[in-house]
Amino acid sequence: MKLRDALRGIVPKELLPLVPSSFEIIGSREAAVAIVEVPPELEPYEEEIGDAILRLHRNVKAVYRKLGGRIGEYRVRRLKLIAGEPLTEVVHKEHGYRLKLDVTKVYFSPREATERQRIASLVAPGECVMVMFAGIGPYAIAIAKKQPGVARVPAIELNPAAYCYMLENVEINRLRGKVEPILGDVRERAPEWTGCCDRVVMPLPKGAHHFIAEALRVLKPGGGRVHFYHWEAEEELFTKGRRLFEEKARSLGYVAVEEGHRIVSPYAPRVYKVVYDFHVKPLKRGSY
Ligand SMILES: C[S@@+](CC[C@H](N)C(=O)[O-])C[C@H]1O[C@@H](n2cnc3c(N)ncnc32)[C@H](O)[C@@H]1O
Repeated sequence: MKLRDALRGIVPKELLPLVPSSFEIIGSREAAVAIVEVPPELEPYEEEIGDAILRLHRNVKAVYRKLGGRIGEYRVRRLKLIAGEPLTEVVHKEHGYRLKLDVTKVYFSPREATERQRIASLVAPGECVMVMFAGIGPYAIAIAKKQPGVARVPAIELNPAAYCYMLENVEINRLRGKVEPILGDVRERAPEWTGCCDRVVMPLPKGAHHFIAEALRVLKPGGGRVHFYHWEAEEELFTKGRRLFEEKARSLGYVAVEEGHRIVSPYAPRVYKVVYDFHVKPLKRGSY
């Protein structure tokens, strides 16, 4: 049954079209939390909305309402408990691995599971793959699980809470020695890997373009692949990020050839999180 149907006779008829058609569930069959966006018109009914979600999903123990967008460098959400018990820490299961996290302390989006699998499926045995802005480790763990032949996966994260969960997630998924969590700023920690990586993943749409130099620097001397995430409005879709990346690469003595792009998820009305896959090579003197 849909949430809207569950609220028939509870929420006034004229407000029913405003009931969200989807919401995030993070966790497992044993225990999960739901995160829902409640429009201002439905605020007086937030408890009823929360209760309806609890009735529809027996594994959901807590329902949180989003209080605005993600904030700060750590990209976390402010949340309000609207139904259930104040559970914030869960273990999320996707594609054969488990991710422990606290929804109030770290960034995590279950909607990006398909993108994580797509990236992981591109990785070849023997590669060293750096995951910048690694959060609790979902990209790094997806890569190491799907491609057991991967050599090393350095994963850099600034938020100490997310870093601690990443350490735990590496243990839970038995990936010690493959995924190497690193606490700190990409600007300071990435240069330690200069010339070491075959591939770099940059999942920070708010600002990854400020770290292109760091990504290119860690690639092996012959170049490699970079997966670059960016927010783009409908009217500039698949143009702005490509231009930004290509121009920056060229200014640093590289040529970036786009191998693909896709929408990862909607971000705001008519704004999307997109990804570009680039093959980056150092420019040969006189060849361009
Ligand atoms: C959009 S979240 C993505 C997290 C993770 N990759 C995921 O998909 O769940 C971006 C992450 O980058 C981290 N971050 C932001 N600026 C950073 C920086 N300069 N160096 C390292 N991590 C940073 C934030 O704390 C946040 O966890």
